[in-house]
Amino acid sequence: MSVYCSQQSSAMEVRAEKPEDIAAIRQVNIAAFGRENEADLVDQLRGVASSFGFVAVKSEQVVGHIFFSPVILAGECSDNLLILGLAPVAVLPDYQRQGIGSLLIESSLKKCDRLGCQAVVVLGHPEYYPRFGFIRATDKGLKCEYPVPDEAFMVLELVEGALTGCTGTVKYRSEFSACE
Ligand SMILES: CC(C)(COP(=O)(O)OP(=O)(O)OC[C@H]1O[C@@H](n2cnc3c(N)ncnc32)[C@H](O)[C@@H]1OP(=O)(O)O)[C@@H](O)C(=O)NCCC(=O)NCCS
Repeated sequence: MSVYCSQQSSAMEVRAEKPEDIAAIRQVNIAAFGRENEADLVDQLRGVASSFGFVAVKSEQVVGHIFFSPVILAGECSDNLLILGLAPVAVLPDYQRQGIGSLLIESSLKKCDRLGCQAVVVLGHPEYYPRFGFIRATDKGLKCEYPVPDEAFMVLELVEGALTGCTGTVKYRSEFSACE
């Protein structure tokens, strides 16, 4: 699947990442975060079942990237619930605040839905993610395994009511522990 955004000064494409994008994806993450941890994390998670990445491409240059991987809910919930963690998302500094991050998030959430994912969690800026429908995860009974501010851990139900009755701690894959 790919999405074209004609409102940009030159066409912007959002599409699934390909093996030939890997080096550029590293550079986007390193430039956006100012360190290699998130780039390394993506390289380690790539290939994990139910994980996937999207890139934003402008003038044949990868300018943004987003990645999803499955998390586990330790607690009370249906066994066959698929919850994905959104992390990381990055846009090259020179391209930020042009809607690219939003386009990546909105496009890839549709892919999560098609994969049969019922909910997505994110640990990030509490001023940014609510615009996509994310709310505090604790309002849905979900805690983060890491000691983070309550408002920074958020969840979006893709299937309304999917988390009803769920309580517990969300655990990211072990690769995240090395990405402090
Ligand atoms: C966060 C990020 C992916 C957003 O991408 P983007 O293309 O700049 O985002 P958009 O243009 O779609 O949206 C811009 C909005 O995001 C907000 N935003 C961007 N970074 C933000 C931050 N660190 N905290 C809060 N809001 C932020 C801006 O205020 C802007 O809001 P406005 O539309 O009300 O002016 C990008 O800024 C980035 O790569 N940051 C560095 C890496 C990072 O922090 N990733 C997220 C980890 S949770």
